Amino acid sequence: MSADPFTNRKPETGAFFQRDRSWHPPAFSPNYKTSILRSPQKALLSLDSTLSEITGPVFGHNILGELDDDLIHNFAKQGESAIGPRIIVYGRVLDERGKGVPGVLLEVWQANAGGRYRHKKEGYVAALDPNFGGCGRTITDGEGNYAFRTVKPGPYPWPNGVNDWRPAHIHFSVFGHGFAQRLITQMYFEGDPLIWRCPIVRTIPDKAAVEMLIAALDMQATIPMDACAYKFDIVLRGRRSSLFENRLEGN
Ligand SMILES: [Fe+2]
Repeated sequence: MSADPFTNRKPETGAFFQRDRSWHPPAFSPNYKTSILRSPQKALLSLDSTLSEITGPVFGHNILGELDDDLIHNFAKQGESAIGPRIIVYGRVLDERGKGVPGVLLEVWQANAGGRYRHKKEGYVAALDPNFGGCGRTITDGEGNYAFRTVKPGPYPWPNGVNDWRPAHIHFSVFGHGFAQRLITQMYFEGDPLIWRCPIVRTIPDKAAVEMLIAALDMQATIPMDACAYKFDIVLRGRRSSLFENRLEGN
């Protein structure tokens, strides 16, 4: 079979999806300094999942608050809103066959438009925005679609190398139907020159895997005079799976 023109990979066949061990980065990546202590030093133990880990809770839309999917307003005072470029982030959560996955809880967190997190250990000099909290959540609909509103986060420096900066990004937690099914990833923005300089991004060996983490600007989905839109699909399994940082090789 011919290769996929997007990833240059051979299409998947059969029911079983072999894990591609070159797709995710190694847990031990010395240029990403904290990976040195975080990566396993000893042989791994294999534990069987028990029923409580692989069943429930099942999330429904009724657990969401009215503004949970609107980071522009969910922390803001009455009549005010967060500062920064207003955006919509939308997309689908897909299984290995490209089918939408319903009922997936997505939790997101991010820095404000100046690159500053609302966290007591945050050390960056950029200002806090009193109207921006930096986290929200939503649940996929029956076809696996999701959307939320926010402001575009700024890049920020971090203590790794002498002058390392994180590209603008939004952290995603993807929660399935059991506590053993939580996956973590990051979304980047099309055209950001810091993406390819980032030591965390550079732990990913395959350029196509990085490109799957970059949301495309979608002018068709923008709201004129209100918000630009970025499209970000998350693939849960298979050879074209999104990179999940808590599922690194060796973890
Ligand atoms: Fe971050």
